[in-house]
Amino acid sequence: MSEIGAKPSVDFSQRRECNSVAAADNGQKILVTGWVYRYRDQGGVLFVDLRDRSGVVQVVFDMAVDADLLKKADGLRGEDVICVVGKVRLRDKSAVNTKLKTGEIEILAESLEILSKAKPSPIPLDEHDDEASEELRLEYRFLDLRRKAMQESLRVRHEFIRTVRNFLDGEGFWEVETPILNKSTPEGARDFLVPSRLNAGEFYALPQSPQIFKQLLMVAGTERYYQIARCFRDEDLRKDRQPEFTQIDLEMSFVTKEMIMRLNQRLIAAACKSAFGITIDEEPQRMSYHDAMELYGNDKPDIRFGMTLTELGDWAPMTEFKVFKSAAETGRLKALCVAGGSALSRKDIDDLTQWVMQDYKAKGLAWVKLTENGLESLITKFLPEAAQAELIKRTGAKVGDIIFFAGDRADVVFATLSALRLRLAEKLGMIPDVYKALWVVDFPLFDWDYETNSLISVHHPFTAPVPEDAHIVLEAGASAELSSEQQQALRKVRSDAYDFVLNGVEIGGGSIRIHESRLQQAIFRLLKITDEEAQNRFGFLLRGLEFGAPPHGGIAFGVDRVLMLGLKRASIRDVMAFPKTQKGTCLMSGAPSLVDEKQLRELYLKSTAKAR
Ligand code: AMO
Ligand code: AMP
Repeated sequence: MSEIGAKPSVDFSQRRECNSVAAADNGQKILVTGWVYRYRDQGGVLFVDLRDRSGVVQVVFDMAVDADLLKKADGLRGEDVICVVGKVRLRDKSAVNTKLKTGEIEILAESLEILSKAKPSPIPLDEHDDEASEELRLEYRFLDLRRKAMQESLRVRHEFIRTVRNFLDGEGFWEVETPILNKSTPEGARDFLVPSRLNAGEFYALPQSPQIFKQLLMVAGTERYYQIARCFRDEDLRKDRQPEFTQIDLEMSFVTKEMIMRLNQRLIAAACKSAFGITIDEEPQRMSYHDAMELYGNDKPDIRFGMTLTELGDWAPMTEFKVFKSAAETGRLKALCVAGGSALSRKDIDDLTQWVMQDYKAKGLAWVKLTENGLESLITKFLPEAAQAELIKRTGAKVGDIIFFAGDRADVVFATLSALRLRLAEKLGMIPDVYKALWVVDFPLFDWDYETNSLISVHHPFTAPVPEDAHIVLEAGASAELSSEQQQALRKVRSDAYDFVLNGVEIGGGSIRIHESRLQQAIFRLLKITDEEAQNRFGFLLRGLEFGAPPHGGIAFGVDRVLMLGLKRASIRDVMAFPKTQKGTCLMSGAPSLVDEKQLRELYLKSTAKAR
């Protein structure tokens, strides 16, 4: 090994990438560097698979050629970093490795420099060995990232973002950075706070998204903005959620919803093509929120397969089943017909019932199977012949199918049947291996919060209603008290928003924004945000809207989620270099961690947590 701190005696400028060495180099003297991937000692000959970012090449140390060199190489262990100069030669026919791009050749070593020794890796780095626990992989992420699958994910991520940048540059967008130390933003999750040392007792919030700043950039006349933006949300984590994640965030002035959607569907198709080599429809299907819910029970439906829900509210009176009749009167009754589902055993059905009762608050899961002898189930006794015939007609059931029923409050029915639909489609192998994109449009502008008995925004409070519905908002916003008709009408107001859904995952969402302060004020009033609170929270945006705001709108895509889909990875953590665990911790660095008293004092903070 070279002396510590010494200049390496090799000329890195001459370096060839491992994967680039080929039969055409036969007889050439070349220099390669990298990590010792695998080695085989065959008594007198040592074979080393040398790996760098590009791939693997075989290096041979042969006693018959240079006994001293072989002795030096004998000390090599996995993951040592070396530099080899040697001559390229063709392998024997019998030794050709067709699975390796460089499998036709090998490098006969003439010199070896050990640049760095490695301790034994605590995780296997072999591409065929995925055995290590995720905890260990995250703790040694710098090693885990050496694995082929992880290198691939970093490379493809780079390619994806590079294409996005080029595309948006070509469309006249400017990349503008917005602040990370912010005032709270309104995306509805909890903020991460940063105490200010220079302003005692005050806090910055990390951005949940650049939403307000990008709108102010439109006021500022930027016209077309984008940013590969890091966002921070302190929410409960799931397999497709991280506390910090990356958005392709963009905003445009003087546009319609149509223009934004058209540009963005091209953007996503181009980036997915270049990064993953997959083809996504440049004209994705569009579906209203209403249809998405009624047909799939879900505002981000997976449309790679059918199996849509059947409405049974007006069928219930034909039956003698109290559960169905009362559900249809006070809530909703819908069914899911599963092709080939009679193969499900009683135990399968019991397990599914337990699952929907526990996870989706269903009160039960009635079912009927259609066999050669007609409908079979414990509940057929409540279904007169006419009801049975009508049920078969509406669901299109065939012999061998099973029909599941959910009767409950609307949200429970939708959640239950949409989850069941996905789970059974997966179990029964009904999901084709394709990519299907979808725009979901015509969301309601408001939702109802049962806890506070008030309206809340479905997107964020700056989302505009569709122009046809704006008058309802303006009139209601001007009324001192809302009549029940007004409340009903408000809940039907559609927003000028759109979500981009890929294979059942919401990968992006955006809207046309409100650019008139009168409409914005009406919305705040309806959301029970007082003038004072609005000024306090978003005063800087409201002020901006008073100084000549162009009509504008935009969207943000979740980069990590798209990568997860494009690379077919099960977890969002597999497409990020340094992700956090479900508990929001970094196992490698140990963040978050305690800080010393002095640091806290400087920030005017005192912890109430019990000392660990
Ligand atoms: P929204 O909150 O819908 O919209 O976010 C846009 C997209 O970001 C992704 N995303 C996430 N990805 C990983 N982890 C998370 N915790 C997470 N949360 C969201 C999703 C989502 O579709 N300012 C608006 C956009 C706009 O109106 O222009 C916004 O942030 O893929
Ligand atoms: P029960 O009358 O409670 O014995 O239920 C008869 C069948 O109806 C069982 O299979 C239950 O799982 C199912 N069931 C009960 N309540 C509901 C409901 N709200 N929606 C769908 N199925 C239900």
